Amino acid sequence: MMGAGGAASPDRQRWEALVDAIRQHQIAYHRDDAPLVPDAEYDRLVAELEELARRHPDWVEPGAPLARVGAPGRANLAPVQFAQPVLSLNNARSREELRAFADRVGVPGPFVVELKIDGLSVILRYRAGKLVLAATRGDGGTGEDVTANVREIRAIPAELPEARDLEVRGEVYLAKGRFAVLNAERAAAGEPPLANPRNAAAGSLRQLDASVTRQRGLSVFVYEIRQGSPPPLTQQEALLALGQLGFPVEPHWRVAPDVDAVWQFAEEWRERRRELDYDTDGLVVKLDDLAAAARLGATQKAPRAAVAFKYPPDEDVAAVLGIRLTVGRTGAVTPTAELSPVRLGGTTVARASLHNANILERLDVRVGDRVVVRKAGEIIPEIVAVLAAERSGQEVPYQYPDTCPECGTRLVRDEEGVEVRCPATLTCPAQRREGLIHYGSRGALDIAGLGDKTVDQLMAAGLVTTPADLYALSPEQVAALPRFGPLAAQKLVRAVAASKSQPLSRLLAAFGIRHVGERVAAALARHFGTLDALMAASPDDIAAVPGVGPIMADSVAAFFQAPAGAALVERLRQAGLNFSEPGGEGPAASGPLAGQSVVVTGTLEGASRRDAESLVERAGGRVQSAVTRQTTLVVAGAGAGSKLARAQMLNIEVIDEKEFWARVANAPSP
Ligand code: IVH
Repeated sequence: MMGAGGAASPDRQRWEALVDAIRQHQIAYHRDDAPLVPDAEYDRLVAELEELARRHPDWVEPGAPLARVGAPGRANLAPVQFAQPVLSLNNARSREELRAFADRVGVPGPFVVELKIDGLSVILRYRAGKLVLAATRGDGGTGEDVTANVREIRAIPAELPEARDLEVRGEVYLAKGRFAVLNAERAAAGEPPLANPRNAAAGSLRQLDASVTRQRGLSVFVYEIRQGSPPPLTQQEALLALGQLGFPVEPHWRVAPDVDAVWQFAEEWRERRRELDYDTDGLVVKLDDLAAAARLGATQKAPRAAVAFKYPPDEDVAAVLGIRLTVGRTGAVTPTAELSPVRLGGTTVARASLHNANILERLDVRVGDRVVVRKAGEIIPEIVAVLAAERSGQEVPYQYPDTCPECGTRLVRDEEGVEVRCPATLTCPAQRREGLIHYGSRGALDIAGLGDKTVDQLMAAGLVTTPADLYALSPEQVAALPRFGPLAAQKLVRAVAASKSQPLSRLLAAFGIRHVGERVAAALARHFGTLDALMAASPDDIAAVPGVGPIMADSVAAFFQAPAGAALVERLRQAGLNFSEPGGEGPAASGPLAGQSVVVTGTLEGASRRDAESLVERAGGRVQSAVTRQTTLVVAGAGAGSKLARAQMLNIEVIDEKEFWARVANAPSP
């Protein structure tokens, strides 16, 4: 311990810790192309250091992380001195910050908006039409000579159509598809995976063996003419000229007359960008008039006439507060990590799925760990890495229990050791509960009022353990439950009774048979027509139904053969449930949508998505949930987003709601 006078203040201690950490992160990111933490975490450390620097300006030393842009290059690549500094961009993160940028620019527009490619900046120099130098940005004043490697990037012309002098700037990136292939190859060869496409691109470019660059298959988009005569007058002109010279130019740029149009573009690409084969983390907004831009000049780091609009990050660091196991309807026991809340992709995340035991064990997630959490688009957040270096030593490895947390039955692992299940399908209270909730859910028998709370009450009162018990409920029994009056009770009993006449497809879906979702249930119901015909069928007969695989078929057959399944069916028969499918018996091979594979997306005014999908099936079409190359028709309702965009990209026929109704008008009614 230091004496009283010599003890560093908490601020000073924090300062030193931050300087150390930031230095380490800069080396990992810029020199080694292997970041230790997500960008958001790094940004936070820098912001904290900046805040301390405001309070203690005398602590800032030249050469400290704050004073630097980027980090020094690797010693083994030759340095390149830039006569004209290679600038970076200031960021805007909201509509307000975009407005503030436009206000600073001083003219309303027009702006050119480009997608911001998440790659590595390169400067390409041509003399008399020949590529003579390629350099990374480095710290903006000194870059690294990567000419030999860049010559291996096929998209970069080695020679221009004209013998002119030119210096351009662009972004080298690794396509997402290539990245996946490379990592699969590395996994097969027992090599560690590359962290992300950006760092993989940087790593490929900044090493000494040009054959490695060739093998990686990098790409490039070029977006700036730094030197060349005559200089372009506008950014639009620059992009068009670059394209004409044979450079790849990212094709989705647009002219925005004002900042509102910029915002519209930002909204349009918020989700759509995920469909591209390259990572984009935002937009770059540039004043179109390049002479005016030059007059505005630049600060030390960035031009005044351009700004980067960044989407909220998909990835950040959170602390694991606990690991909870949930038992699903089919007995799958899945761990969920409870996290300190983080903002990801615009929403607050406090939980991440660990998918299955395998991931939990592979990542070795422990309570108390700091972890990297990722949420891209609509996908549930997941933990992608553990910051093991930050462990205190107090964290205890997670021990998967041997028995079901709900019923104490010994858990089993599937053959691959990936999924852990509770085998007590019919006695495990968690599975019974989930099964009942599922039975009454909208895609199943759609029993209004039979939500999770009601199921809990019915089970707690000992009134219901299996779906068949629902049909024995009297209004008096239900009315005696807390929270229920006579009216609500009657409503529930009526809804239960109404469910008896639902078609077989709904009943099959309601059984919650493993591997049998709504679509397979509908296919089975259509094909067999009655429950008795299905129960009499062999697994082979069942597997012969289009869209039904052997695993599903085995699962269906096993369900009805098991004593509990057979007993349930008999009790439901006695309760008077409908066991047949209207218009069933034989697949609908005819109808206005026969032979079509159809995706319904967005909101329809006239029907729920589900009802629209069953209409598609009645009209002879096949329903798909995702747009694939097999899709032949997309019904786009209001607010259709990424699926619509994908359909357009794949040139698939898209119809609106009006046209949809016109086409299914003469489908057979149920
Ligand atoms: S303009 C001074 N345009 O984003 C001009 N940059 O965050 C600055 N980037 O360092 C660059 N796509 O590496 C520009 N269409 C684009 C870009 C782009 C990606 C990168 C570039 C820059 C960084 C700034």
